[in-house]
Amino acid sequence: MYCLNHLRGSEMTQDESKRKAAEGALEYIKDVSILGVGTGSTVNHFIDCLADFNLTQDIQGAVSSSIATTERLKKIGVPVMELAESGNLDVYVDGADEVNPLKQLIKGGGGALTREKIIAGASAKFVCIVDQSKTVDVLGKFPLPIEVIPMARSYIAREMVKLGGQPIWRENYITDNGCEIIDVHNMEIMEPLALEKAVNNLAGVVSVGIFGLRPADVVLVAKETGVETL
Ligand code: A5P
Repeated sequence: MYCLNHLRGSEMTQDESKRKAAEGALEYIKDVSILGVGTGSTVNHFIDCLADFNLTQDIQGAVSSSIATTERLKKIGVPVMELAESGNLDVYVDGADEVNPLKQLIKGGGGALTREKIIAGASAKFVCIVDQSKTVDVLGKFPLPIEVIPMARSYIAREMVKLGGQPIWRENYITDNGCEIIDVHNMEIMEPLALEKAVNNLAGVVSVGIFGLRPADVVLVAKETGVETL
């Protein structure tokens, strides 16, 4: 490790950046008793931070966006609640696959987009934590995930071709909701809101991974120079 760091100077690894962004989110959860928690490797760092900084006792419970996150929260002693019993939340912390300057996102690389969208919608503040590699001017380099009802898969793929994309079925993958995912490549998403609405309107779409109608409220971007707040 010493040798690697020496060769790269003080450059942070992507993993170290994710941890920095996760630590930045701790500022936003003071006095929050029930927390919304997203999914992915950056969020895993956030969950580790809750344990490392002994914050688990301060949290009454969490609403989780995936089975993977639920297991991780339970391991550190945070009770997991259903959104139906918690009511709306004050704060939701989650990562993203891409973030544009308007704090609109692509999410769903980890397949949890629908539950993430529900919790984001039910939360007063969505704090998004990312490393710098996730920031873009225009969304769409990252393949756009769409969760679909299985029988609609080919139909929706054909519709996405009409919209200019190259859909690829995420084979052998079933979401926590028992549905499937299509990843749409080569979309240059100039109008995120219009595309989000258009895809949402296709019969058989459970949800699309554009978070434009409900963007992040705060984006914490971990950079070499520190954590920048958008
Ligand atoms: C999960 O479905 C995704 O929306 C993740 O939040 C997103 O892919 C970010 O993941 P990482 O933190 O692992 O990059």
